[in-house]
Amino acid sequence: MKIVHKISELKDILKDKKALSIGLVPTMGALHQGHGSLIKKSVEDNDFTIVSVFVNPVQFGINEDFDKYPRTLEKDAKLAEELGADIVFAPSVDEMYQDTKELTLVCPPYSAINKLCGKSRPGHFDGVATVVSKLFNISQCTRAYFGQKDAQQLFIIKKMVKDLNLNVEIIPCPIVREKDGLALSSRNSYLGDEARNDALKLSKALNYAKELRKKGVNDKQLLCDSALKILEGTNVDYVEIVNPETFEDWKETDKKALMLIAAKIPPTDTRLIDNMEI
Ligand code: PAF
Repeated sequence: MKIVHKISELKDILKDKKALSIGLVPTMGALHQGHGSLIKKSVEDNDFTIVSVFVNPVQFGINEDFDKYPRTLEKDAKLAEELGADIVFAPSVDEMYQDTKELTLVCPPYSAINKLCGKSRPGHFDGVATVVSKLFNISQCTRAYFGQKDAQQLFIIKKMVKDLNLNVEIIPCPIVREKDGLALSSRNSYLGDEARNDALKLSKALNYAKELRKKGVNDKQLLCDSALKILEGTNVDYVEIVNPETFEDWKETDKKALMLIAAKIPPTDTRLIDNMEI
């Protein structure tokens, strides 16, 4: 598998690929089968697939896990190759940003970031939108693949593409779960056995809320309170229900309801997110 570290080298490789469809799978590495499903889909859909591996400092807050975020490039490249990707693009921070303090940022609208993860991670989505725009430009991709686990991120990226007339088709891919329901995440590697049991409470809470809705429960407070009960023992950041099309607060008259949860799992305070249409 060719691992490319320089933007100029990637541009050289892409020079004679202008007539091809290019799929981009943007990642921060520590690839798991969730990423694997995005890579597979891109390989199916496109002539050429680029997997980017870049732990983006601009989307991490000062007290977050930028330094300890798992970095496993060789392993990632092997998985990308097995799944049929053509190139891994793994730039350094200096290659991507001359100066992170004097950077032109892409800032999603306040209404999209003043809630959920945006509320507890100020600046996070500016960092995501900025790096994703850069990766779109560098890779000249036709399509880009994002997991639905990061539902707010996906919503913001789709909106950015629309608002800025970017010439990229966004392909959302379903959440991949372990047999017991735990959503795959690179941050699951921070969990020990005991914490993993607590981590399972996220998917259990979502499934329970889904069951309640099936039984006709439409009271938002009741649905959130039932989820919160199951989440006891974790440090809940939020349990919310939104309209998945608009990401506005869900109303009983809305057809679809997306429940989203973020919680820190003791003792390492690993912050996990999950969501489900209920
Ligand atoms: O979802 C992620 O892994 C990251 O936020 C992304 C989209 C690769 C941008 O750094």
